[in-house]
Amino acid sequence: MEVFILENYDEISKKASEIISEELKQKPNLKLGLATGSSPIGTYKELIKEYESGNISFKDVVAFNLDEYVGLNKNHNQSYHYFMRENFFNKIDIKEENCFIPNGSAKDLEEEVKRYDNLLEEYNYADIQILGIGENGHIAFNEPNFTLSADTSVVNLTDDTINANSRFFKHKKDVPKTAITMGLKGILSSRKIILIASGEKKARAIKQLLIGKVTTSNPSTFLNLHKNVIILIDKEAAKLL
Ligand code: F6R
Repeated sequence: MEVFILENYDEISKKASEIISEELKQKPNLKLGLATGSSPIGTYKELIKEYESGNISFKDVVAFNLDEYVGLNKNHNQSYHYFMRENFFNKIDIKEENCFIPNGSAKDLEEEVKRYDNLLEEYNYADIQILGIGENGHIAFNEPNFTLSADTSVVNLTDDTINANSRFFKHKKDVPKTAITMGLKGILSSRKIILIASGEKKARAIKQLLIGKVTTSNPSTFLNLHKNVIILIDKEAAKLL
């Protein structure tokens, strides 16, 4: 695990974008694992700038997202489909048919999670997976629990996560209580993982992650089992180290 403690969020975003851009130049048909939330927005902005400058192209890239709320359709302004279009996909030359996100409004969710895992397997997983981390240590929506799912699954969001995500919704009651999330197998099968954390609120989870032990009470600690993880954090997130 390689840990970079950077000055601030902008520096994290630049570093993440640099790593991804380099890989993309080496491999134009890169398979990118993507996240939503505040953490990767700066990285997407930097990648968009690189694209606009003509330094990189996403025309052969395949993208897989980690998760989606159950019950929000693709055009709902808090759905992760909408987030990805607004913050990234609509601003680069990626092909719509190469962007995969779990369908949270599928009629048969059990079929949908199987479909998503089959897809990941078919493409042989991501080359680079971008991750944020929850204050409670969740990665994607794999929440702290007695057991964690290896496969993509439908999960109940914890109160902590619902509270944290209520900042994006008008009323807390509007935050969905369930989501589809990629499981630990999908995440850990990526060739390289970049985890981004900014701000003091993430400091406790980061400290636990970097102790190097594995516990289901902080799902991010499973990243200690992976050989190629880059942790990009700012000084606040590194406060307890
Ligand atoms: C989002 C995701 C979540 C977030 C996490 C941190 O696709 O998988 O695990 O990465 O909740 O969210 P932010 O970045 O908003 O602090």
